[in-house]
Amino acid sequence: MSERNRSIIRVFGVVMVSILVLAACAPAAPAVEDQLEIFSWWTTGGEAAGLEKMFELYKGEFPNTEIINATVAGGAGFEAKPALKARMLGGDPPDSFQVHMGHELIDTWVTTDFMEPLDDVFQEEGFNEVFPPGVLEIVSYDGHPWSVPVNIHRANVLWYNKKVFEENGWTAPTTFDEFFALADVMQAAGVTPLALGDVGIWASTHLFEVVLAGTLGPDKYIGLWTGETDWNSAEVTQALESMARMLGYANPDHSALSWDQANDLVIAGSAGMTIMGDWVDADNLAKNFPDSGWAPPPGTQGTFVALSDTFGLPKDVPHPEAAKEWLRLAGSKAGQEAFNPVKGSICARNDCDKNLFGTYLQSAMDDWAKDSIVPSLAHGAAASESWVTMINDVMTSFVSDLDVAKAQSGLAQACVDAGVCQ
Ligand code: GAL
Repeated sequence: MSERNRSIIRVFGVVMVSILVLAACAPAAPAVEDQLEIFSWWTTGGEAAGLEKMFELYKGEFPNTEIINATVAGGAGFEAKPALKARMLGGDPPDSFQVHMGHELIDTWVTTDFMEPLDDVFQEEGFNEVFPPGVLEIVSYDGHPWSVPVNIHRANVLWYNKKVFEENGWTAPTTFDEFFALADVMQAAGVTPLALGDVGIWASTHLFEVVLAGTLGPDKYIGLWTGETDWNSAEVTQALESMARMLGYANPDHSALSWDQANDLVIAGSAGMTIMGDWVDADNLAKNFPDSGWAPPPGTQGTFVALSDTFGLPKDVPHPEAAKEWLRLAGSKAGQEAFNPVKGSICARNDCDKNLFGTYLQSAMDDWAKDSIVPSLAHGAAASESWVTMINDVMTSFVSDLDVAKAQSGLAQACVDAGVCQ
């Protein structure tokens, strides 16, 4: 062996020993299992970006844990939820999964005994002090918290293209009459008034809940889910009539498009408005579209139709410690401040730094603090999943036959079948 080779080996040996010594002295990465599977339907640009932010933070803390990003595409989880159900019932739960706060969490998974209570995580992380009491109440059942809310989304937003509105001298409608008057003007100008993407029928149910809230007002809207508001009332008829009229202004291919493809029509200026949750803000950000305008849809000024994405811990998961660390992150200030500005949602915590958020989200924070908060139907907050499914079925027929009387009797029957109405 040449002297040169010998000295290379010597240097190499010294370097190796130093690395080993350093490794032995360095604080070990915290020990959790080597994998973590997170299940969600966050696949569109803004959704995936938000999820990735949380993954980055997690990897920073637990570099030895591989994250399995188990997503099933489809807005509002219309494909993911059945897939999750199959896994849960088949004894193959993911370590943690996205689930809406409210009935979707409690009725589907908690009362049926599929979840672990999270008292220890909530206590250790001080979550009881940083989440609003109303939020804590909704994630709790039987005296225990069952999931960690990562955000608050608003369902009732009318999104439009500011440039197109300015060029045409249009202003966002605040009443149904103004909406229809503007829709006629748009149509005359060759612009599709309303962009809709209900390849998953939930998007029409979503539109309907917004129309219901705008027609009935917050108190009577809430009464629909408690049995206090009559589904056969004239106001529900009126909401269905408005909805039928709105559908007449929608893009004819709506049943082939997703919510984000509908938003593309607004971005392109070929459609005037879309009524969708504030994940559109994230979509606009991901698509570098700076000209988005927003307003409360007709009749919903002062009303915030709310929903929340949460994560829980199913029983008997393969990686419970890694999952608990995920839940700690999901509820943490750092996690929520990283996730929400790119996800188009506001923090569920009450101590996030407002300056980290864009203009729309800052306005959503103000509204969250002062508006009447009512639960979203299409996103698991207002009604049990089986009730939502019945309403989705009514909507499937309604968007094609526009038969108001038939839809109303179907809705009234669904409330009875859900065990809420007599
Ligand atoms: C909602 C969910 C949001 C967003 C949206 C569209 O149900 O809460 O986070 O992802 O669906 O997929």
